[in-house]
Amino acid sequence: MEIWIEKWRPKNFEDIIGQEAIVRRVKAMVEQKSIPHLLFTGPAGSGKTSLSLVIAKQLYGNSWRENFLELNASDDRGIDVVRNTIKDFARTKSIGDVPFKIIYLDECDSLTKEAQQALRRTMENYAAVTRFVLSCNYSSKIIDPIQSRCTIFRFRGIEKEGVFEYMDKIAKQEELKISKEAKEILYENSNGDLRRLLNILQSCASISNKIDDKLIYDVVASVHPKEIRKIIECAIKGDFLKSKNMLLDIMLKNGLSGLDIIKQIQKEVLELEIDEKDKLKLIEKCGEIEFRMVEGSDEFIQLQALLAGFYLK
Ligand SMILES: Nc1ncnc2c1ncn2[C@@H]1O[C@H](COP(=O)(O)OP(=O)(O)OP(=O)(O)O)[C@@H](O)[C@H]1O
Ligand SMILES: [Mg+2]
Repeated sequence: MEIWIEKWRPKNFEDIIGQEAIVRRVKAMVEQKSIPHLLFTGPAGSGKTSLSLVIAKQLYGNSWRENFLELNASDDRGIDVVRNTIKDFARTKSIGDVPFKIIYLDECDSLTKEAQQALRRTMENYAAVTRFVLSCNYSSKIIDPIQSRCTIFRFRGIEKEGVFEYMDKIAKQEELKISKEAKEILYENSNGDLRRLLNILQSCASISNKIDDKLIYDVVASVHPKEIRKIIECAIKGDFLKSKNMLLDIMLKNGLSGLDIIKQIQKEVLELEIDEKDKLKLIEKCGEIEFRMVEGSDEFIQLQALLAGFYLK
């Protein structure tokens, strides 16, 4: 079975969801076969790698593989390996009628300042025969001399409308029935990251083609908010034992860590209909306990302390 993030990789500009302004400008560059160095920055799963692949396919047609090199800047064999690979690739002429090749360098923000200086020199040395497309999550981590050599495009997480349009498209092709409630949860859970969305959808689809809220919570290994809500309500009322037992039960059944649970509890606290002052108190408690857990304190003891602290007299 094929992985969906590959199967569903955009094949042309029209397949790219959102990022309209970016797509329009890049398309014009491709049509004129005139491409500067590019810097793509923005959150994961927003289409940076996908767009660069579309550029290559549109520009070079069938010989795109010969003219496009994808590298990861954070390659743990070091930037020297990356530079040698670039050198070898750039040494031979491009195939076809476009006078340059493209090097796509992912995760540039993981490079040290020194490595970025080296990259900048490499970019200059091969400027006549290559174009660089650099990709990163945070442009602030890229040194100015590189930024000033590139045209910068800022990608955004995909907005709700785009995510829904995307879900409908996938559902139709893959013959899935996604309930309305499930769509909302998927949207919230993917947080504008279409890679994450596809992965959740594929995991769900391997179990059933009817996707509802329960299936999604099973797949993303989080608990249905209703259950978390019950635990919190018990704790607030002072039924400590019951809330503690429910919590342990849920954690063990779903294989969740203390940190997984505390994130969900905090989220549900925000939704509670209680006095604002009380709510603030509970939120503060969550923060305190989360900190202790991160510091390495026993998570079961900390979660019980949390529930005890939730009692509102
Ligand atoms: N804007 C988009 N339109 C359509 N599909 C998308 C879009 N963004 C992401 N996807 C889907 O998600 C998968 C991953 O996207 P992509 O590799 O382009 O993300 P990225 O922005 O490069 O993320 P990262 O920062 O993690 O490298 C793609 O294969 C595609 O299926
Ligand atoms: Mg990428």
